[in-house]
Amino acid sequence: MKSEKEQQLIEQAYAEIEKYRDMVEKDYYRLHYHLMPPVGLMNDPNGLIHWNGVYHVFYQWMPFHTGHGAKFWGHYTSCDLVHWKQEKIALAPSEWFDKNGCYSGSAIDNDGILTLFYTGNVKDEYGNRQTYQCIAISKNGIDFEKKGVVVTLPDGYTAHFRDPKVWKKGENWYMVVGAQSKNLDGRAVLFRSKNLFDWEYLGAIAGGNLNQLGDFGYMWECPDLFELDGQEVLLVCPQGLKAEGMKYHNVHQSGYFVGRLDYETAQFFHGSFTELDRGFEFYAPQTMLDEKGRRILIAWMGVPDQDEDKHPTVAHRWIHALTLPRQLKLKDGKLYQTPVKELQMLRKDKIAYSGVTIANEEIMLEGISGDVIELHLENIRLLGDMEIAIRNAARLIYNSGERVLTLERKSFANGLTEKRQCHLEYLHSLHMFLDTSSIEVFANDGEEVFTARFFPYKNNQTISFAANGQLVFDIEKWSL
Ligand code: FRU
Repeated sequence: MKSEKEQQLIEQAYAEIEKYRDMVEKDYYRLHYHLMPPVGLMNDPNGLIHWNGVYHVFYQWMPFHTGHGAKFWGHYTSCDLVHWKQEKIALAPSEWFDKNGCYSGSAIDNDGILTLFYTGNVKDEYGNRQTYQCIAISKNGIDFEKKGVVVTLPDGYTAHFRDPKVWKKGENWYMVVGAQSKNLDGRAVLFRSKNLFDWEYLGAIAGGNLNQLGDFGYMWECPDLFELDGQEVLLVCPQGLKAEGMKYHNVHQSGYFVGRLDYETAQFFHGSFTELDRGFEFYAPQTMLDEKGRRILIAWMGVPDQDEDKHPTVAHRWIHALTLPRQLKLKDGKLYQTPVKELQMLRKDKIAYSGVTIANEEIMLEGISGDVIELHLENIRLLGDMEIAIRNAARLIYNSGERVLTLERKSFANGLTEKRQCHLEYLHSLHMFLDTSSIEVFANDGEEVFTARFFPYKNNQTISFAANGQLVFDIEKWSL
């Protein structure tokens, strides 16, 4: 049962959806096949789980305006990761332990009970923060009942302590939490439990100069720890890294460490940090293991503290979205991300060309244009540099002399061109998903990924290909 206060907040949020439904629906930039909020602001994906054949994606949600604040958990379900249904609101910030936000967290199956862990964010009248790791349960996967606080703040940390991710290993449950130590360094902290209600603090497993990491941010958000292809991967979002060459240009970063977690001593031996995505908008990813054994990642297609009032969709009373679901694989210590196969269900009206050859010119290909499309370039052979211009609002450039892949776009804050880049030894394929206002580029079967929002003019749907030197490729395009 939900408390009267929680029920009231939920009713207010439904009223908000009704009130602005038309306004959101009339927005050209509303996304066609990405999860976005019904109204208001969406941020982190939460509680990802494949449960009794149904994929559940919860998300951080502010229904009442397009800024941050006391978050709800919205809820979508799907049988195929492609067609989504909006479910009842799962959690609202109603109780003493979560009144300023039901912050991010995760989901597990506890003997047939769908169990959510989340952070109860509380602020007093002076803005002082308190944090509680909380639990909520459901028998049907739709109606959730809060069961209160299960973890309070251990000594040695500030109240920036949040985003519990829970999993089972052997007989025990484990929880990793994103934290800031009293010395103001970011950490991932581990707990253990036999029953999901009583948790033993095991200590920090990464951050704060463990494994000689050095100064690596003042806070780590949204950790996720899982086994993949025989190793352990820790995803985290460090805040406060300085830009370094082509790395760390977003306000906050999102990346991973590969290593081995010793569950007995609670030590995680890991290598260096790698960014998950090279684009402009990618943060707070979370993964789930699905019933087919795939490790699937979904992230927020946004980043914190980024001129949110400048997003054009704010005029239509909504902001932000989630990335496509991507399957993860580990190859030679590096994570590869590929869009899940099910997305092929969306394909319509295929157009293909093989052996397209361009020499020191710019061309367009009949039928290769559009705003909601998938493009797949394969067998790319390049002598020189190539460029794909997308709707006059983004450009993808590969410079084979420097071995650098670049995504450029027009900033929606000031209209100036801005770029993100990464090293790529060779370029042999580019798989791109365009939605009305988003672009996801998977280079070389997921070796590098760029995710970004962009806001091209509706009527400009052209895509052009150019080479400085010689370029040959095969291409397939589908409308989605
Ligand atoms: C990351 C984050 C989390 C927090 C949530 C609040 O984007 O700041 O650390 O739980 O968003 O919405």
